[in-house]
Amino acid sequence: MKLFVANLKMNLSIAQQQKLAKEYKKIASKSSYRLVFCPTFTALPLLKKITTKGDVALGAQSCSPYHKGAHTGQVSASELYELACSYVIIGHSEERTAYRLPDNYIFDQIMRVLENGMIPILCIGETKEERDAGQTLSVLEKQLKLICDTIPKASLYIAYEPLWAISTGEIPQIEELEELISRLKWMLPYCAFLYGGSVNHQTVESLNTIPQLSGFLIGHASLDFQEVKKIVVYKK
Ligand code: PGA
Repeated sequence: MKLFVANLKMNLSIAQQQKLAKEYKKIASKSSYRLVFCPTFTALPLLKKITTKGDVALGAQSCSPYHKGAHTGQVSASELYELACSYVIIGHSEERTAYRLPDNYIFDQIMRVLENGMIPILCIGETKEERDAGQTLSVLEKQLKLICDTIPKASLYIAYEPLWAISTGEIPQIEELEELISRLKWMLPYCAFLYGGSVNHQTVESLNTIPQLSGFLIGHASLDFQEVKKIVVYKK
């Protein structure tokens, strides 16, 4: 089953996230996707029970690269596991840009997630400038290098999210995207690939024609329940 990963970012209050999670739960059995709900850290304890029947999976938006210790402000992967998370988003471009995260930091985050029995969703993507300079593939290869060299057989999700497509309404050309994902899949055959960046009920139709995609990482549209329903509920 394809994944619908809702990345709520920091858009809603805790009460709003609880309300939205209940709405997701209502449609989970009719959904053509496995729903993965990624709220803020502080909402996670309250949402633990939405996973009780396994109909909506819980995910976190990041985690610490360290096991434990003197790391003020960080949240460990083992805590996320305690809170019933099954997935953790790693290396989202908003976090990479804000904190200038080096590749080995992101690699360590992935390792902590795997060690704690959860599934990492690693975000990769190029900027508009890099794309215009024809550097897309080399940028993505660099972002994946440590994984290819160290844990090529690990099973993780990789979300290709071009930075210029995030919340802009633009998506890559379908043929171009298909070719790129095939190339990445060839590099890491054990990984499953998601696409993220301006996915909504309109763009998802053409994106869904790409056979190598195992689902989507969705920001803006995941906050609007009417939009979510249009994306995930099978048209009869
Ligand atoms: P978007 O965000 O769906 O609003 O483009 C995607 C993301 O940042 O993960």
